[in-house]
Amino acid sequence: MSLSLIGSSVKESVTLKLNETFAILKAKGEPVIHLGGGEPKSKAPLDALTSMTAHLNTGEVRYAPVDGTVDMKKAVIRYTEENYGRKVEPENIIVSSGAKQALMVALQAILNPQDELLFVAPYWVSYPDMAKLCGAVPVAVTPEDGSFIPRMKDIEQNVSSYTKAIIINNPNNPSGMIYPEAFIKDIVTFCEKKGIYLIMDDIYKSLVFEGKKTANPFDYVSNFSDHSKLIIINGVSKAYAMTGFRIGWAIGNKKLIKAMANIQGHQTSGPSVLLQKAAIGAINGVQSSVESLKTTLENNRKVLVAQLKAFDGVHVTPPDGTFYTFVDFRHYDKDSSRLSKFLLDKVRVLTMPGVEFGMEGYLRISFCGSIKDIKEGIERIKWALDPNSPNELFIGERKLVRDWK
Ligand SMILES: Cc1ncc(COP(=O)(O)O)c(C=O)c1O
Repeated sequence: MSLSLIGSSVKESVTLKLNETFAILKAKGEPVIHLGGGEPKSKAPLDALTSMTAHLNTGEVRYAPVDGTVDMKKAVIRYTEENYGRKVEPENIIVSSGAKQALMVALQAILNPQDELLFVAPYWVSYPDMAKLCGAVPVAVTPEDGSFIPRMKDIEQNVSSYTKAIIINNPNNPSGMIYPEAFIKDIVTFCEKKGIYLIMDDIYKSLVFEGKKTANPFDYVSNFSDHSKLIIINGVSKAYAMTGFRIGWAIGNKKLIKAMANIQGHQTSGPSVLLQKAAIGAINGVQSSVESLKTTLENNRKVLVAQLKAFDGVHVTPPDGTFYTFVDFRHYDKDSSRLSKFLLDKVRVLTMPGVEFGMEGYLRISFCGSIKDIKEGIERIKWALDPNSPNELFIGERKLVRDWK
C-alpha cells in the first residue's frame, strides 16, 4: 500500500491507544487500574445539560456558522474579559471541535512545510505529530535535568530562521508545572521581537491549586492588534469535565482567525450547535462545578504526592495544577515504555510512558480518578518494583506471585 509522507509519518496517539487497551482489559473483567487518565470523572455542569437539551427539544439542529455561533462567541468574550482582563471582538475568536482542533487549524494557518514548531519538554503528546501534519518540523526544547522549566537561554538556542511558532502549555501536561511569571513575560517579549507566533495552550488554566495563578500573556503584549502573533487556546473539556462535548476555541488576530475559519470550513464546518449550547451553559452558568472539581483534584493530589514521596527511589515534583504528575522512575528503569508495559502486564496498572512526552525514564501518573484507585495503584506499583516487597500480592481473589527480580 502506498501512503503519503504524512500518512506514513504520523504516529498513533499513545495515550488514546493505551486508553483503548484499558477499555479492552476492563471489558474482559481484568482488575485494571487507570492511572494514566486524561479527563476528570465528574459530571458535566447542569447548566450545560439544560442549555443543550432546551435546544435539542426544538428539533431544529442545523449547521452552525463555521467559526462559532454568535452566542458562543459572546460567552468566550465574557470569559476572556473575566479571566484575562482583555476585551476581544467576535472576529478575534474561532470555536472549534475541541482545543485540539483549534490548535490544529492554527498550525495549519501559520506553518509552511520545513518551518519549525518549538515546544518545551515534557510536552503534550500531540504537538510533534500536529507539526508533522503540516509538513513542519517539531523541535522540543528540553530543560536541564531535574527541571521542567526551561531557561530563556534554552529556548533561544533552539530558535532558528525556520522557527515559526512556539507553544507553551501553562500549566503543563504532563508535569503539572506553572511557568513562572518572569518566563511568560520574557517569552512574550522575545516572540514579539522576533516575529514568532506564541501559542498559549491554556486548556488547564482553571485547574490550579493552593491559590496559584498562571501568568496572563496579555499583560506583556505591547499591542494586541491585527499584527499580533499571540494565540490563546482554551476550551471546556478539562475545567468543566466536558471532554466528550468537543468544544474549544482560539483567540488571535482577525486575519489569522479568518484563515483558520477558512480551513475549518473545509474540514469539519462549525462544531455542533448543540455542543456549543452546552459550552455556553457551562461558561455562563454557576461555576461551583469547577470549584468542586478543583477541591477533589487538590485532595487527590495530596494523597498521590504523599504516596510517591514515601516510595523509595522515585522522585516527584508536586504539580501546581492539571491532574497529572510526571514522576522520575529512572532508578527502576530508564526505559519508560518498557516500565509502563511491565506495570500493566504484571499488576494491571496503566501509566503513560514519559518518552511519549519527550522525557525518558518518567511516567505520567494522573490523579483525576478515585482516591481508592490512586492508593491501590501506587501500592501495586511499589509491590512490583521494590525487590524487598513480599512475594505475593492479592488483587481481589487473584493471587499474584513475584517471578521477577
Ligand atoms: C495540553 C493539551 N492541549 C489540548 C488538549 C485538547 O483538548 P480538547 O479535548 O479540548 O481537544 C489536551 C487534551 O488532553 C491537552 O492535554
